[in-house]
Amino acid sequence: MKQNPIIAVIGLGYVGLPLAAAFAKKYRVIGFDINSERVSELNKGVDSTLELSSEELKDALAKNESKGLVVTDQQSELEEATVYVVTVPTPTNKYNQPVLTPLQKASETVGKVMKKGDIVIYESTVYPGVTEDICVPILEEVSGMTFNKDFYAGYSPERINPGDKEHTVTKILKVTSGSTPESAKYIDDLYASIITAGTHLAPSIKVAEAAKVIENSQRDINIAFVNELSKIFRLLDIDTQDVLDAAATKWNFLRFTPGLVGGHCIGVDPYYLAQKAQEAGYNPEIILAGRRMNDGMGNYVAQEVVKLMIAKDCKIKNGNVLVMGITFKENCPDIRNSKVIDVVQELEKYNLNVDVFDPWANASEVKKEFDIDLISEVSKLKESYNAVVLTVAHNEFLDFDINKHGGDPCVVFDVKAFLDRDGIDGRL
Ligand SMILES: NC(=O)c1ccc[n+]([C@@H]2O[C@H](COP(=O)([O-])OP(=O)(O)OC[C@H]3O[C@@H](n4cnc5c(N)ncnc54)[C@H](O)[C@@H]3O)[C@@H](O)[C@H]2O)c1
Repeated sequence: MKQNPIIAVIGLGYVGLPLAAAFAKKYRVIGFDINSERVSELNKGVDSTLELSSEELKDALAKNESKGLVVTDQQSELEEATVYVVTVPTPTNKYNQPVLTPLQKASETVGKVMKKGDIVIYESTVYPGVTEDICVPILEEVSGMTFNKDFYAGYSPERINPGDKEHTVTKILKVTSGSTPESAKYIDDLYASIITAGTHLAPSIKVAEAAKVIENSQRDINIAFVNELSKIFRLLDIDTQDVLDAAATKWNFLRFTPGLVGGHCIGVDPYYLAQKAQEAGYNPEIILAGRRMNDGMGNYVAQEVVKLMIAKDCKIKNGNVLVMGITFKENCPDIRNSKVIDVVQELEKYNLNVDVFDPWANASEVKKEFDIDLISEVSKLKESYNAVVLTVAHNEFLDFDINKHGGDPCVVFDVKAFLDRDGIDGRL
């Protein structure tokens, strides 16, 4: 393990880029990504994930002898690094099983360039055991070196929240771990040198992996619980938000709000834990019940909208619906694993024509991912909608005048409960 580390960050997405920029304030950093388009936009000072402003990115790219970021798609440039931090995606497939290919490929890349004494730290979200049982054997095989003798490994989960400008990478306490006491201390010191919120050194890599995956699974289960409550209270004709407001006055009530659970963390990570549990012979009932509940919310929202439309005599067959928001969360351009598509597809099953409007999403990405042509503005279709469904609470939608765009009659369904309740017909 070397003094004056040169840090390589492998995978420059939502997690890797802000981390690379934070390290670059103090160290020499090589940011590597296999996506040449991403590398090219970053080198022009543009971050399409909007996690870094152009100014922050350009600051990071302004390098000198001892610090600063180089962004590249050339594997050979990784050779001078002494610490490798892997931040590649860990999605699931259509059967909700973990896809570890990007991690395996990134481990091969690192295995080809690493040298004696180097450290490989994984940040991607995984189930307990992936670092030591899957990634380390690849590093050993490709490099021909021996684990914990020639090189060391660590795991330090990322906790950032896309679009959140308050809880940015250095302001979130970071869990760290390493494969030997010495490497663990080295890794912890390295993160502590840039994370102002501090670090927590976990006793093992598996503990750190498990901690990350349960943080998101816990959120998923808590949201599933309030989603279930919202279904019950709709049947009882009680407003869920009123109930939550009342219950939240108790000191130990945990406030979660109902909604669609998308993105690449909360809706995905519990499946990683579930798979590992099943491998170990345990069927995780609560975790998977939470997943089933949350994965079904898109269809449920669409069906509630249609029921309200029938009750109000709105046109259903060939009727027009405006869906506002396609990103997986508010004020963020990330559309990965957005559950709004379930709302759209379920509405279309009722022969409704659905327009989707989202000022945050990239139209060509939406076309590629969901085969939806976003409408670029709503005003053109004035007074033509039989229903408006607010799916994502983008700030821009707060001033949206539904009365200007809805036909008569028109149903307004506010999934996120962020509009004035007087103007709406239903919410979760
Ligand atoms: N986005 C979040 O808020 C968040 C928060 C905490 C943890 N995580 C976890 O962090 C990991 C990364 O997530 P993300 O949101 O940054 O993903 P992302 O898709 O935004 O970025 C991943 C980047 O890795 C690149 N990549 C893929 N395979 C590669 C390879 N073999 N070599 C080099 N680069 C490669 C991709 O081109 C992409 O630019 C995932 O495991 C995710 O679960 C994400």
